[in-house]
Amino acid sequence: VTKDPWADLADPFVDGHYNTRRGKVRTHVIHHHLRTHLPPPPARLIDVGGGAGHQSLPLARDGYDITLVDPSSTMLERARQQLAQEPADVAQRIHLVEARAEDAPEILGERFAGVLCHGVIMYIDEPQPFVAALAALAQPGALVSLVAKNQRVMAVLPAIQSDWAGVLAGFDATTQINGLGVATRGDTLEDVTSWFNESGIDLLAWYGVRLFTDGWISPRDGETTDDLMAAEVEASRRDPYRQMSRLFHVLGTRR
Ligand SMILES: C[S@@+](CC[C@H](N)C(=O)[O-])C[C@H]1O[C@@H](n2cnc3c(N)ncnc32)[C@H](O)[C@@H]1O
Repeated sequence: VTKDPWADLADPFVDGHYNTRRGKVRTHVIHHHLRTHLPPPPARLIDVGGGAGHQSLPLARDGYDITLVDPSSTMLERARQQLAQEPADVAQRIHLVEARAEDAPEILGERFAGVLCHGVIMYIDEPQPFVAALAALAQPGALVSLVAKNQRVMAVLPAIQSDWAGVLAGFDATTQINGLGVATRGDTLEDVTSWFNESGIDLLAWYGVRLFTDGWISPRDGETTDDLMAAEVEASRRDPYRQMSRLFHVLGTRR
């Protein structure tokens, strides 16, 4: 039996990250842009690597029908617990499937109006076939929504920690230990755009995710306010701020 790599990460991610200001800003900014590009509910969406369902739940509450695919039984159990707290009609709109993205097109045998994949690709060793699987889940004209880690700012995190040797290494680094203690890969917009092109997805728009509250301008934790969220959204859509954000959000259209 292969160990579930997310068995020990579920608690720090679900109970830790999502309760921090950084976690709240991440979700707020992603959803702000996602909602402007998604077709209106009730469309059928798939949340690939959907984990404990944090990204799916607000969409199900708004009337979308969502298939959440994830290979981690631990994360899916957390999703089940969250769904149990929801009104029956919302819970019924989320369908949990235990599978890797790469196997999902064959297992599911259907295509969706929107394919969401937020905060997963940095854990995947072979991103190109992974993106091809996302494309295979998308019907023609569907929205593909991908959130990746920004390789270009990897010198910033060690700078916050005054680790200047780490900063020097970070300029050319392609992986970095993240907040959960896992080595994750950073990608560039050019990487994602070329994987999209090879898989039949046209680039539609891109945004930064989390700049000011990632620690290098203001502290990593604290309260969120409406002005703070508005500031992060504004930074997410204009240069040079979006280029300096910790994560980036790429939206594409399936040909
Ligand atoms: C950081 S969590 C993100 C969860 C969710 N997308 C969110 O933003 O709240 C990463 C998730 O990716 C899942 N994952 C890892 N490898 C995967 C694969 N090959 N296919 C699909 N999901 C995968 C993990 O099980 C985990 O639930």
